[in-house]
Amino acid sequence: MAVITGAAHGIGAATAHRLAAEGALVVVTDVDDTAGKAVAAHIVDGGGHAEYVRCDVTSAADWENLARHVDEHHGRLDVLHSNAFAQLNKPAHELSEAEWDGQTAVLLKPAWRAMKTFASMLRTAKGSVVLTSSVHAVIGLPGHAAYAAAKGALCSLGRQLAVEYGPDIRVDTVLPGPILTAARDGIPEADRQRYGGHGGQEIRTDGSFTEW
Ligand SMILES: NC(=O)c1ccc[n+]([C@@H]2O[C@H](COP(=O)([O-])OP(=O)(O)OC[C@H]3O[C@@H](n4cnc5c(N)ncnc54)[C@H](O)[C@@H]3O)[C@@H](O)[C@H]2O)c1
Repeated sequence: MAVITGAAHGIGAATAHRLAAEGALVVVTDVDDTAGKAVAAHIVDGGGHAEYVRCDVTSAADWENLARHVDEHHGRLDVLHSNAFAQLNKPAHELSEAEWDGQTAVLLKPAWRAMKTFASMLRTAKGSVVLTSSVHAVIGLPGHAAYAAAKGALCSLGRQLAVEYGPDIRVDTVLPGPILTAARDGIPEADRQRYGGHGGQEIRTDGSFTEW
């Protein structure tokens, strides 16, 4: 039984397909209801088990609703993948305070809220938490001030959660390199060239991917 945030597209959708293929019942969550339902339906059509529940990771009410749903319908949680993402590339001096707060609200705070919401269930199941950070946590690229700060903090938070909740709950933070999900459609060509030099992956919503 797994919950994934930001699972309507990209890495989240690919993870949903993979976990379902491994036999998990997957709760696909996102703010893009149409695409999220399509991911869940695609998994079910393929013989897997999945459902869609809306969860805006910045909304405390949505997290409470999600927890209620998981408790009432499934009574347990084994895997929580905190993965949602909203793109905003600007140098530090061009970011408004609202934009800075918005980035950390989507990228960092949900990892804390996920643990706050599901720690008890995860502990009972001796479950696992996965946080999607980024290579931006350890590598500087122009235009990613708030993103890099949030992703760096996510590594610290993941380490902290692992110490506080292990061994009952395993916490892993992953730092993907460049992956051509829809989120990358608008990246500057110079960044694309940089990424290309190191290779990467293109992920499609059905979970398939191409190395490049
Ligand atoms: N693509 C890359 O190259 C790359 C590299 C390193 C790390 N990452 C990280 O991987 C994760 C997934 O990225 P991706 O490339 O698959 O992105 P994506 O844009 O393909 O998917 C992100 C998903 O998050 C959802 N989302 C946006 N705001 C939300 C909110 N408030 N609440 C819930 N869902 C919301 C979107 O609707 C979308 O379905 C992110 O945390 C990103 O920072 C991506």
